[in-house]
Order: sequence, then structure tokens, then C-alpha cells
Amino acid sequence: MLIIDSGIGGLSVLNNIKKNFPNINYIYMLDNEGFPYGKKKKKFLIERSIKIINIIKEIYPIKMVIIACNTISTISLPILRKTFNIPIIGILPIFKPAIEITKNKTIGLIATRATVNSSYIKKNIYKYSFQKTIKVIATNELAIIAEKKFRKIFISNVKLREIFQSWTVLSRQPDTIILGCTHFSFLKKEIQKIFYKPINFIDSGETIVNKIKKYSYQKKKKKIFFYALNTKKKYNNYYFF
Ligand code: DGL
Repeated sequence: MLIIDSGIGGLSVLNNIKKNFPNINYIYMLDNEGFPYGKKKKKFLIERSIKIINIIKEIYPIKMVIIACNTISTISLPILRKTFNIPIIGILPIFKPAIEITKNKTIGLIATRATVNSSYIKKNIYKYSFQKTIKVIATNELAIIAEKKFRKIFISNVKLREIFQSWTVLSRQPDTIILGCTHFSFLKKEIQKIFYKPINFIDSGETIVNKIKKYSYQKKKKKIFFYALNTKKKYNNYYFF
């Protein structure tokens, strides 16, 4: 299994996978050179993800690709699925659980600029904003802050507050926040501290296990051999691009 992100964000997804499929063979691809993806153009993101998959595919017998990145998933998933004949699973910001769980009918979506500008997000906001208020923050800064936290570099609370300012000034602040970037999973504690009331975090990285199981079930039904699990050769590895 190949897992791709621009940095440490996808590690939250990898942790969920490892917990549930302990025998998985994986390659974790950190595209540090391309970071941050949020600032990149659509063309770059598509070409980059195709290039990464092609390079790794040449070296390892990957049976599945996990795009552990909302930015690539919202932009490139359909093209990647057309380009490769291996299963490709993406991580996308999810709205439905947020719609169901919010008590004050106010939801926050925070994601990279590229994700927020994608048609996937525009469609979902249009679809759900009739039912609830959806407040959006587009930021490329927060992923950088998450990288710093991971490397134990000081992170400024002032900077964090600035990012969330458009929500903290509201009389009705979001009680539910959709984390639209895998990097943000590592900042739940810091984000919670900014708000007075408890926040429900909707973390789409947690949906990965069900997505893999669902895929596996469908394949088993068709009796097609599936999976990067338990292949003879172990190849767990981290790759820096
Ligand atoms: N972790 C990524 C995401 O889920 C990308 C962050 C970035 O590189 O800007 O969107």
C-alpha cells in the first residue's frame, strides 16, 4: 500500500490504518519538496501525484494507493483513477456527520486554499448551506504550523488565533469543525483552546478504515484477489521526495 501526502499530515491516516490492519505493508511518501500543496496549482498537483505513483510503482508491487491528503484528493482523484488500474482511495472533507452532530447549526470548515477552491467543496457547501450555516477558513498557514509542531519547533498562539479570528469574533461560533486537511488532525488540542465551548472535530482521516474495508468487501464478493496485506515481502518504508 502506498500512502501519499505532502508531509506529516498523512501519518494520522497511516496510524488509523496500522491500528486496524497491523500486518499491512506500506510505503509512506512525504513530498516535502512539494509542500505546501495548498499553494499549488491544479496542474502541478495532478502531475505531481501521477509522477509519485509512477515512481513508487516501478520499485514496489503496490496494490493500493491512499491519497492521505484532502488537497490532492479533492483535485486529482478522478484523474488518478482513470490513469492507474490499481485502487486509489482518497481522503475528502466530510459534511454529513457535521450536519448531523451540530447543535447550534453552525459548522466550520477549515482547509487549504486549493481544497476550498475545488469544485468538490463548492458543491458540498451549496448542498448543505440550506440546512446549516457553514463558515469557511482557507489557510495554507495551518499545515505549516502542524509541521512545526511535529518537529518540536515553537508554535505561536498569536498566529493560531489570527487564523481563526473570523470565527472567534462571531456571536454564534461553530460547535463543529470539519478538518479539511490531514495535517490539522495534529492540532486538535491547540484549536480547541482557541474556543470557549467544546468542539466536535470531524476528521475525515478516521474514515479510511471503513473505506478500505468497504473496498475489500466489494472485491471479495467478486472473488478477485485483493490487498497489500500479508504479501510475502515486507517493505514498510518512509520515502522523502
Ligand atoms: N495534508 C494535506 C491536506 O490534507 C496538504 C497540506 C499542504 O501541503 O498544504 O490537504
